[in-house]
Amino acid sequence: MKIIVSKNHDESSLKVALIMSEIINSSKNPVIGLATGGTVVNVYQELVNLYNERKLSFKNTKTINLDEYIGIAPTHEQSYRYFMNSNLFDKIDIDINNTFVPIGNNSDTDKALADFQYQLDNNDRDFQLLGIGPNGHIAFNEPDKYLHANAHMISIAATTIEANARFFASKDEVPKKAFTQGMGDILKAKSIALLATGENKANVIKSLIFGDDVSTDNPSTFLKMHADTTIFIDENLANIIGYK
Ligand code: GLP
Repeated sequence: MKIIVSKNHDESSLKVALIMSEIINSSKNPVIGLATGGTVVNVYQELVNLYNERKLSFKNTKTINLDEYIGIAPTHEQSYRYFMNSNLFDKIDIDINNTFVPIGNNSDTDKALADFQYQLDNNDRDFQLLGIGPNGHIAFNEPDKYLHANAHMISIAATTIEANARFFASKDEVPKKAFTQGMGDILKAKSIALLATGENKANVIKSLIFGDDVSTDNPSTFLKMHADTTIFIDENLANIIGYK
């Protein structure tokens, strides 16, 4: 695992965007795994900037997202499909048919999961972008006795509902379940970049960076078993956890 410390979060975001841009520009048919959350918004803005400067085209790119809330429509402002369209897809030259986000209001959850797994099994990711939850969750793989390898349905942890409530009118409106990629599929991506900022991520980033344990209590620690993972943090977070 490589650790890259940047001056601030904007600089981390730009570095990640440039890595993604290089992968996209140098592959014939790149497949890119995407994430949602406040942390990655600036990465998408930087990708849009590169596109506007004509340094990047998404014409041949396919994307697969990590997860989606269950029970809200793709048009809901807090759905991850809406997030992706408004932060990235609507602003670039990607073919929207080449973007995959599970459909959260599909009442046939078995079918939704089968479609999700089909995409993962048939599109090897060149790159996976990741954020991290304050409890160490990756996508929606929440700390638990077991983690899962493949796409599955999960009950969102109470602490995650609280953390994500800031995006909703109230805590009660946060969906209680989600579709998520499993850890096995995430680890299949050729290269992974995890971006983190903020004091509330300090504990989990500390055990990810310093500890040797791989534990289902902190799902992000599974990234230690991946051959090409880079963690991007800013100076503020590095200082809090004592990383030099
Ligand atoms: C959600 C997503 C995760 C993301 C996390 C962190 O729970 N399912 O993929 O990493 O939020 O979000 P933020 O960047 O807003 O802290």
